[in-house]
Amino acid sequence: MTSDRARRGKGSEVHGIFQKIAGYYDRMNFVMTLGRHEKWCREVAARVAPVRGGQLLDLATGTGVIALEAARRHPTVTVTGVDFSEEMLRRAKAKPGAGAVRWQHADAASLPFEDEFFDGITEGYLLRNVEDLDRVLREQHRVLKPGGRLVILETCPPSGLVEPVMKWGMRVVVPLLGQVVARDRSSYSYLESSTRAFESPQSIAGALRGLGFKDIGWRKKFFGTNVILWATKGD
Ligand SMILES: C[S@@+](CC[C@H](N)C(=O)[O-])C[C@H]1O[C@@H](n2cnc3c(N)ncnc32)[C@H](O)[C@@H]1O
Repeated sequence: MTSDRARRGKGSEVHGIFQKIAGYYDRMNFVMTLGRHEKWCREVAARVAPVRGGQLLDLATGTGVIALEAARRHPTVTVTGVDFSEEMLRRAKAKPGAGAVRWQHADAASLPFEDEFFDGITEGYLLRNVEDLDRVLREQHRVLKPGGRLVILETCPPSGLVEPVMKWGMRVVVPLLGQVVARDRSSYSYLESSTRAFESPQSIAGALRGLGFKDIGWRKKFFGTNVILWATKGD
């Protein structure tokens, strides 16, 4: 684990925030997405469709919602849940069904796995948090087998007619919910600003195409504030 690197710069800030919010992460997610987060995680686990008996990686697993759903849905598959926050992993390991997942402490920018090891990769809300997006995507391309699927759940900068309303909602409502539900306005102000500043699905798709991914598609969710994006590694 490249903890020294992860603990510097943006990596250090992000690590600190997730260590701090781990205890109320699931509750806040439920409130902020009006209960939709679990449904999106189920869709991510379904879309990745790993081969029977294969290996699946859930990156930035956090409290393990996608990893646990994937293990339930694909019982013949070995699911590995990776995160660099010890506190988030601790919560994941305490959940019902956690014994079906291998939990591993690692940085998404430097994955401790062989080339072409995994048949599928899932991730929820990782990319917006990383310092070097290209490097993190390259690592995923490296550890994925040709023909393997990558499925990403991310927040999305609002656009179109709802943009002003959603921007206002995110700037005012998200930190306020952080204050009320978690007594932590500052961590949720980070969430709002990192979402507004993040790339569009078109831009992520462009980066994936440049790395050799194909069959790329996406579906926006929740008034365009979230997106599920999928891609297949070319041969
Ligand atoms: C918003 S949470 C998402 C958790 C889960 N995927 C979900 O959908 O509920 C983002 C997670 O990414 C992890 N993370 C951020 N940067 C990371 C990195 N460079 N390497 C590994 N994990 C990282 C954080 O620790 C946190 O648990």
